[in-house]
Amino acid sequence: MQKTIDGSAQGTTISNKKNKKNSRNLYIESYGCAMNFADSEIVASILANEGFNTTDKLEDADLVLVNTCSIREKAELTVRKRLEKYNAVKKHRPHLKVGVLGCMAERLKHKFLEEEKIVDMVVGPDAYKDLPNLIQEIDAGRDAVNVVLSKEETYGDISPVRLQTNGVSALVSITRGCDNMCTFCVVPFTRGRERSRDPHSILGEVNDLWEKGYKEITLLGQNVDSYLWYGGGLKKDFVKASEMQKATAVNFSTLLGMVAAAQPKMRIRFSTSNPQDMTLDVIETMAKYDNICNHIHLPVQSGSNRILKEMNRLHTIEEYFELIDTIRKIIPDCGISQDIISGFPTETEEDHQDTLAALEYVKYDFGYMYLYSERPGTMAARKLEDDVPLEIKQRRLAEIIALQREHCKYRTEEHLGKTEEVLIEGTSKKSDTQWMGRNSQSTVVVFHKENYKVGDFVNVKIEDCTSATLIGEAVEYSKNN
Ligand code: SAH
Ligand code: F3S
Repeated sequence: MQKTIDGSAQGTTISNKKNKKNSRNLYIESYGCAMNFADSEIVASILANEGFNTTDKLEDADLVLVNTCSIREKAELTVRKRLEKYNAVKKHRPHLKVGVLGCMAERLKHKFLEEEKIVDMVVGPDAYKDLPNLIQEIDAGRDAVNVVLSKEETYGDISPVRLQTNGVSALVSITRGCDNMCTFCVVPFTRGRERSRDPHSILGEVNDLWEKGYKEITLLGQNVDSYLWYGGGLKKDFVKASEMQKATAVNFSTLLGMVAAAQPKMRIRFSTSNPQDMTLDVIETMAKYDNICNHIHLPVQSGSNRILKEMNRLHTIEEYFELIDTIRKIIPDCGISQDIISGFPTETEEDHQDTLAALEYVKYDFGYMYLYSERPGTMAARKLEDDVPLEIKQRRLAEIIALQREHCKYRTEEHLGKTEEVLIEGTSKKSDTQWMGRNSQSTVVVFHKENYKVGDFVNVKIEDCTSATLIGEAVEYSKNN
């Protein structure tokens, strides 16, 4: 899975294909989930047609766009801190315009302009095609806001400009929005109802990426397993679809198979799966195609049935374990990772012990673990008091992280002595003489560079490991090259 990248921020230089006269510079920063990073590539594409070059130098920027995340309070605070920085920059560069995109824009709407005086433009995740008009508004000295959520918009017709790319891995959006209404989650409010993208436009993007030399894609959605294409429209309106539309509908496992078959040498990943929507045919499709990576990000959130119910996660922990058993039966070496929330309202010590027991049962390869953060407007915020004291939340989270770390080690040790195919993504952060890539399970592998290059598939013999990284020696090119 494309890891959740809380708080990281990057701008990137690319050249603008059209290179209109009077071109201006766009500095775009993304926070939060992989979907936001993918959306920024759509925004860069829309603005490239308006004469904007992207730049990674803030001092060159005429327009700063911050693609924001609302998932936890901390993510919002990070964005507000960044806006303070732009405020300082604006003092020396009064013509600089600042726009806020994404989930915070949607959540706060016009209020953003009042709360953050330096913001000129507020644009929700479904309104990026309106950016050319909104920019005209701010050029004319007016504030500009568009936070209308759409029933159709999937940006399927826009060819993203790949930002901060290694030329090897790319994100491909397949659904937008979410209908699940987990009680803690702000996403259904900020990204709207769920709709799926036309499979032909997805295949078109994947084929184009292959032709450009990309070797790995991640199919992205808030809830990929509920992908359903029946000709357009909201997922919830499928009940009203014609018999013909129902008969020819494409679900996630079919889409996955179509993509894997279209580009048999391309590595395929996907994220995120919700346990309640993951079906046997998805697992069987994974097993059928060698190029679909053996990794499933399967957030559990809690090991307690009572808390799962309060969260409106529509499965029990026993059903979750059954799913894990099925995955392991069909794909024995499948990497499995988790998201867990510690300290959801009413969580008792016993509930917490259930979460630790769930970790013990699955022994995940890795995971993302969070303190519960109350989000305004969600069902949990309206109905439940955020009653677990911070110190207790933190202590429980520390216990969860410590146990997960043991399991990370247990899982990485399982790879010792094996020879595994690794796709080289770039130079290792720790050593210039080593490459970094990932195996099928999405575990990071480092090894001596020798004559290999970024984008090569290499068989690597795993000789050592830490809890997060496999260390090996390259043996040969894999058959995929
Ligand atoms: N389906 C999404 C999940 C979105 S949020 C996806 O594609 O990634 C990612 C994770 O953030 C969730 O699985 C959950 O563990 C965590 N999260 C969401 N809302 C939260 C909140 N209010 N407090 C703490 N963690 C939260
Ligand atoms: Fe959020 Fe649950 Fe959807 S975590 S994104 S409401 S599946």
